[in-house]
Amino acid sequence: MKTSEQVLVTIAGVLLLSTGLVAQENNSVSRNLALTPPMGWNSWNKFACNVSEDMIRSMADAMVKSGMKDAGYEYVNIDDCWQVSRDATGNIVADPQRFPHGMKAVGDYIHSLGLKFGVYSDAGSKTCAGRPGGLGHEYQDAIQYAAWGVDYLKYDWCNTTTQDAKASYANIRAALDASGRAIVLSICEWGTAKPWLWGKEVGGNLWRTTGDINDKWAGQTKWPDGSCCSNGMLAILDLQVALASYAGSGHWNDPDMLEVGNGGMTDTEYRSHFSLWAILAAPLIAGNDLRDMRPEIHDILTNKEVIAVDQDALGREGERVWKSGDLEVWAKQIRDGSRAVVLLNRGSREQEISANWEDLGYPSHVSASVRDLWQHKDLGKFDGKFSAPVASHGVVMITMKP
Ligand code: GLA
Repeated sequence: MKTSEQVLVTIAGVLLLSTGLVAQENNSVSRNLALTPPMGWNSWNKFACNVSEDMIRSMADAMVKSGMKDAGYEYVNIDDCWQVSRDATGNIVADPQRFPHGMKAVGDYIHSLGLKFGVYSDAGSKTCAGRPGGLGHEYQDAIQYAAWGVDYLKYDWCNTTTQDAKASYANIRAALDASGRAIVLSICEWGTAKPWLWGKEVGGNLWRTTGDINDKWAGQTKWPDGSCCSNGMLAILDLQVALASYAGSGHWNDPDMLEVGNGGMTDTEYRSHFSLWAILAAPLIAGNDLRDMRPEIHDILTNKEVIAVDQDALGREGERVWKSGDLEVWAKQIRDGSRAVVLLNRGSREQEISANWEDLGYPSHVSASVRDLWQHKDLGKFDGKFSAPVASHGVVMITMKP
């Protein structure tokens, strides 16, 4: 039998050990990343494999000149196809034709504008576009990325055969941390292995919850090889239901990058897309050509009131709180106790939609100030509910402050 002294020593030992472990976790270089959902730009949705040093530099310039940087956009992310091979010692090689000055030069330029630099790779043997993947080179690549000044890594899931998703992403996070550089880890596993259940634990800062977005309002489209599917905006939205509790500061559900401005939806639909992504506390990664934006598109992407909802420091993801046929109400808790609310009309004609205070978590006798975030206008005080006509495929987005 142990004496009470022995018991005390054992308890102290366990306490020390666990404090040590906690301290170790808290001291990780990546502990303070993505405290609000990451904002930036990525090349894939508009340019696919057509990436180059010149295009990326001009996009970074445009991010500053257009006011996107001032609105909060920060990361300039090169997606698939920047890499062509590995050299004799296994180092990843960037396309020498498209990136003649190498990746560090691109990163340096992006940093010189006060922006951050992101790249893409894949947990398997090859990327989705068939370029060399990271498998077996995780630590080597992480050291290389750190030397280039990479701040953000999107890590895809093609060609992973029998790999375990959680273990694979834990491995790349450990490699990134071992490099000594704080690098955001964007898990791009498409939701297959439910990354919301383990993404935070393995140090992922965001995780895709679905397959790829498609620049369409609704529906799913099969890939050319017959496999399923790329998703219209509403198909993605529907797949977010019930995931809100998994998101929080530093670890976000990612319903995929924005299609705003890419031409497949109307401006009304893009306004809905942007509003819903903000309610979802989604990463706001623009995917259009920033050098060439119509004013309507610019005004959507830089709406600071909508962005503030997305970036709210409480870090709550919003949820669908009411649905009847084509009409829906989505709401998100805001740090000051107010709610951001989206009234969404999926139907083909204008209809009135009401947000009832009780569905938003308030008693109906409460009186609340309502502000319209697209009209940038205070609408006055409302009791019990707020109702408004909503255009076909449109939203009304408000904040309600009791
Ligand atoms: C997958 C990802 C996309 C994009 C492409 C690149 O489809 O989900 O977001 O990165 O690969 O090949």
